[in-house]
Amino acid sequence: MRTFKKILTGGAALVAVLAVAGLALTHQGEIATQASIPSADFTPQQIAKGKLLAAMGDCAVCHTAANGKTNAGGLAMPSPFGTIYTSNITPDMQTGIGSWTYEAFERAMRHGVDREGQYLYPAFPYTAFSRVTDEDMKDLYAFLMSEPAVSNEAPKTALNFPYNVRRGIAAWNWLNLKPGVVADDAQQAPEWNRGAYLVEGLGHCSACHTPRNGMAAEKTGEFHFAGGSAEGWDAPALTSKSASPLPWTKGDLVDYMKTGFSERHSVAAGPMAPVAHGLSQQSDADIDAIATYLMSYRDANAAPGDAKALIEEKTAKPKLALDTEGYRLYQGACMACHRADPSASTFGVRPQLALSTSLHSASPDNAIMAVLEGVQNPAHADLGTMPAFRHALSDAQIATLLNTMRMQYGVDAWKDLPAKVGQLRKQSQAQH
Ligand code: HEC
Ligand code: HEC
Ligand code: HEC
Repeated sequence: MRTFKKILTGGAALVAVLAVAGLALTHQGEIATQASIPSADFTPQQIAKGKLLAAMGDCAVCHTAANGKTNAGGLAMPSPFGTIYTSNITPDMQTGIGSWTYEAFERAMRHGVDREGQYLYPAFPYTAFSRVTDEDMKDLYAFLMSEPAVSNEAPKTALNFPYNVRRGIAAWNWLNLKPGVVADDAQQAPEWNRGAYLVEGLGHCSACHTPRNGMAAEKTGEFHFAGGSAEGWDAPALTSKSASPLPWTKGDLVDYMKTGFSERHSVAAGPMAPVAHGLSQQSDADIDAIATYLMSYRDANAAPGDAKALIEEKTAKPKLALDTEGYRLYQGACMACHRADPSASTFGVRPQLALSTSLHSASPDNAIMAVLEGVQNPAHADLGTMPAFRHALSDAQIATLLNTMRMQYGVDAWKDLPAKVGQLRKQSQAQH
């Protein structure tokens, strides 16, 4: 997880600064425990709303270990300095957050400080969660506290010095945490403001889609949504800088969020798959609002372009000799599923790779990761899965295959590709 690595590298410099500056000001008190959960205070409406909010915030995506119980924690987030484990956020009294009052929960979400007063690592996206309204925060609490309590002691996070000095995070917060609910922009329609609230708050879209500075904080201004990274994947630009062959229309965004697939682009794979799954549970009005807000980062008047004509243009005529190794690899390994005529497919969707951002981006990461790992956990089961080619194709073969596809689609070959495939192969292997 390069993002966390960066967060931690940035943290190191700050820890050093803080050691000099003194830490007295960063002390946070402990908040007393509650002996029981105030269930009587929660209405069924609140709990139902909280459930949707939790899906929007992807709580279970991070707080559930592979084959573990929902929200019982223990998902390992690897970094070169050690592993950060997510916490048990079920209402178990001993191992979860059952003993946390609303006040303690709110402090964690808004300020990144746990009940005992310890600073939490910003791998937990509290910089975005801090921007949620009181009402939504209370509904989230009501939902989490009404879920089954699971007794599970999540492994302790024990990073090496200086990353283990949690108080160092106080300085990072001081510079990078801007608490306060997402403010309405009076110039914009209510729908746009609703979208901004969801995207910048619980949705934490920018945690992945915005590049980070040397301190591992999200860059601002023109860099907002200009493209970031997550777990070896590239989270593409959501702005007009997007490498997508066809411009994203509002309708495309709605399709992608509701189904995990846009016919004019591609699927939500990798770390975007569980995000898209959470989005698909939201109301039509909220999905529309998110799309409206995101469209304001693009030229909304751009001509949508014709998908069919573009596929034809990119694939009809071979650009290289037919017995080129890359073509043979494509025919053998990919074409059966990713053929140009999707009507011939019966199992799930078949993304048209000629339209996929992954094959047209400056970064080869997503195309490589998709080939190495396949798509085992799609956003929705009916999209179908793709097999992993990790054991079937060598680094050189994957590189030849992908660069041949690039040439066929009319984009420049990626540089040093075999080495890059090797690097991602190692990195993603370590995560398994
Ligand atoms: C990108 C991954 C990620 C997402 C998404 C996420 N969390 Fe977390 N969360 C973490 C990590 C990692 C920690 C532990 C940080 C640490 O140990 O310093 C954490 C810690 C917490 C804590 C503190 C628990 C404790 O015992 O200290 C709470 C409360 C929490 N998360 C609630 C939530 C809620 C509610 C959501 C959904 C709205 C959510 N988280 C979504 C990664 C995530
Ligand atoms: C955990 C990291 C992460 C979060 C959080 C995240 N994304 Fe993504 N997103 C990705 C990755 C990685 C991809 C590339 C997926 C692929 O190529 O299959 C992606 C792809 C996309 C795309 C397609 C872009 C293209 O040109 O193909 C859209 C649209 C998108 N995300 C919207 C969102 C929205 C809206 C949110 C917030 C609600 C969000 N994302 C939150 C990681 C993330
Ligand atoms: C057995 C069918 C099958 C084969 C063979 C196959 N794919 Fe896929 N591929 C899929 C399906 C289905 C998806 C969509 C998965 C999902 O998200 O549900 C997909 C998704 C992808 C994506 C992700 C798209 C994106 O924009 O992020 C890429 C890239 C990709 N395939 C490339 C390839 C390449 C290159 C090959 C040949 C080495 C290949 N596929 C072979 C079925 C297949």
